[in-house]
Amino acid sequence: MKVLITGGAGYIGSTVASALEDTGHTPIILDSLVTGPREFVRGRVFYEGDIADRGLLERLFRQHPDIYATIHCAALIVVPESVEQPYLYYRENVCKSLELFKNLEELGYPRVVFSSSASIYDTVPGFRVTEDSPLKPNSPYARTKYMMEMVLEDLARATRLRGIALRYFNPIGADPQMRSGLHVREPSHVLGRLVDTALGKIPYFQITGTDYPTRDGTGIRDYIHVWDLAMAHVRAVERFDEALAKTGNPYEVINLGSGHGNTVKELVSAFENVWGSPINKREAPRRPGDAAGAYANADKAWELLGWKTELSLEDGIHTALEWGKRRKEVLGYV
Ligand SMILES: NC(=O)c1ccc[n+]([C@@H]2O[C@H](COP(=O)([O-])OP(=O)(O)OC[C@H]3O[C@@H](n4cnc5c(N)ncnc54)[C@H](O)[C@@H]3O)[C@@H](O)[C@H]2O)c1
Repeated sequence: MKVLITGGAGYIGSTVASALEDTGHTPIILDSLVTGPREFVRGRVFYEGDIADRGLLERLFRQHPDIYATIHCAALIVVPESVEQPYLYYRENVCKSLELFKNLEELGYPRVVFSSSASIYDTVPGFRVTEDSPLKPNSPYARTKYMMEMVLEDLARATRLRGIALRYFNPIGADPQMRSGLHVREPSHVLGRLVDTALGKIPYFQITGTDYPTRDGTGIRDYIHVWDLAMAHVRAVERFDEALAKTGNPYEVINLGSGHGNTVKELVSAFENVWGSPINKREAPRRPGDAAGAYANADKAWELLGWKTELSLEDGIHTALEWGKRRKEVLGYV
């Protein structure tokens, strides 16, 4: 089937496109390239432009009337930038997504899979969260995700639109076939920084926060291989109607995580094992806005989508390192 991916030039969207192709589907990409690189859409059906551009959407659907569903990945995603420039984030992630959803409904393309984030969860005792756990998004970025979940739910209740919001935990790694991976020059993602430290691009890795109430004092996260994450989108599209029919709701939220929590120190030591030697690291105080963290109860993804993670933390580290060495060939920059 044909699937529209907004933000399909990005880290996650481009990997979803590869997963769709590998399973016999055809991705149609809509991306403004505001952050995603052109190299990630090479050889794919690609429309360059903004998600809120109605005319562009009309042309796209005229040329591909058989699109089955839309995966909405396009967004700005840098948390500190969202603190400094909230207007930009609310305009890009909220106002434009609202227009996109309205246009999709009006044009008769009601199935929407939305990229949401586990960063909207509050910290809970034990750190394991289900989709019903309390929410407390604590940055403008996270609030844009929370808002769009509410918007999608309300639209789904009032119109023909149907929505599945996927709450991603912490994506790591790269496409195992090295078609895509992290593209930013200075990654803020923890594994990107570990790779940059190992490859000598930055002098040391900072473990920020060592006084959290976790087993070793460092933050806890649920690291999920980006390929597993991409495959969850394939299942969400393939089982879209079936999943919603099962619950009888026009809108569902699904956690995408491994179901295991790893602390930053555990991640660093897994990284050093895969890398084969210790890396330079320093402990530093918590950063403002950081939380102890969370990991997923991923039972609902299994029940509704028949999906669970298959790749390990080490697989994620391995592909991230490989991508760190190979990305110049793909992107043209280190
Ligand atoms: N990477 C993570 O750790 C993570 C975690 C949870 C959720 N998410 C969500 O996953 C989605 C994808 O994230 P990513 O890591 O691939 O980010 P990314 O920056 O690599 O990709 C986002 C893509 O969206 C495009 N884009 C942004 N605004 C646009 C607009 N108005 N019109 C058209 N295209 C636009 C960008 O050019 C880029 O290619 C985002 O919605 C993000 O909030 C990411």
